[in-house]
Amino acid sequence: MKQFQKYLDTVNQAIAAIPYPEKPSQLYEPIAYHMALGGKRVRPVLTLMACDAMGGDPEVAIDAAVGLEMFHNFTLLHDDVMDNADVRRGKPTVHRRWNANTAILSGDTMLTIATQYAARTANWQVVELFNKTAIEIYEGQQWDMDFEDRNDVTVDEYINMIRLKTSVLLGCALKTGALLADADGEQADLLYEAGVNMGLAFQLRDDVLDVWGDPATFGKEIGGDIMNNKKTFLLINAMLLAKGDDADELRHWLNDPCAAREEKVPAVTALYERLGVRQLAEDAIAHYNDRAITPFNQVKMSDDDKAAFIALANKLAGRKY
Ligand code: IPE
Ligand code: IPE
Ligand code: MG
Ligand code: MG
Ligand code: MG
Repeated sequence: MKQFQKYLDTVNQAIAAIPYPEKPSQLYEPIAYHMALGGKRVRPVLTLMACDAMGGDPEVAIDAAVGLEMFHNFTLLHDDVMDNADVRRGKPTVHRRWNANTAILSGDTMLTIATQYAARTANWQVVELFNKTAIEIYEGQQWDMDFEDRNDVTVDEYINMIRLKTSVLLGCALKTGALLADADGEQADLLYEAGVNMGLAFQLRDDVLDVWGDPATFGKEIGGDIMNNKKTFLLINAMLLAKGDDADELRHWLNDPCAAREEKVPAVTALYERLGVRQLAEDAIAHYNDRAITPFNQVKMSDDDKAAFIALANKLAGRKY
């Protein structure tokens, strides 16, 4: 197994080499802009790592890896419209730098380019998995939006929502690499299970960073979830734990559509701190990270490869960006 950085270099080279037509520039420039902004490139690196670890040639997985990163970036263009987000990867979001129509249509184009890359693998199982995963992500995004207007969302509903919107793509990335290495189904499914649990820890960490992250490293505006009344693990637990004045205050912030950002974000953050929900989130991250490490340990691969996956899971669970 190579170092993470080696796979990252391969992914970045392949992404930099994607050819885009020149016109209409309003369609293609935003795609090139977003794909060049960087990001962690977690999904394509997982695909190459899985292919390599399962005895395949990572070269054969490059198209699939690029397709998955393109698909992920497409979801971000639309997600930033849906979440009314101004900043991503430290730069203006596409719908802010251009407009919402551009984010919709450039996003649509990215989805189709991603599908073309998946099809280029000429592996029917990979294409089927890609399409199934895409629809699950749309379902998760719809639950995420529905939950903004509900105050009775349970922790189980939340976990299912983040499994769909975020985790299945990490599972898909790993399983795709395994399928392209011709791994047997059981091994591919163990990697999928590891990816899904890694993804649950990953989204829980994202929720924590949305409140306590440093905007300079996180690259997104802090407090977006609080402003949107997103039913994160933090908010659901705060609603369960808040009593008396705390409960009244939380209700007030949830029911005031005109609340100023400078007031609501620090006030809800202070409530979270008083109620101790940050620690609950840290415990949940550790729990799902453990549930990722178990299947990684069960996959038939070298000890070096296991160690590389486990180190990556630990790094992502504790990430600051
Ligand atoms: C952002 O994904 C959306 C979530 C699932 C939390 P990443 O945190 O992987 O974003 P980039 O690609 O590194 O910018
Ligand atoms: C996004 O979740 C998941 C997808 C894009 C499918 P978030 O809305 O939490 O992601 P960020 O925080 O905007 O990156
Ligand atoms: Mg968002
Ligand atoms: Mg969102
Ligand atoms: Mg988020």
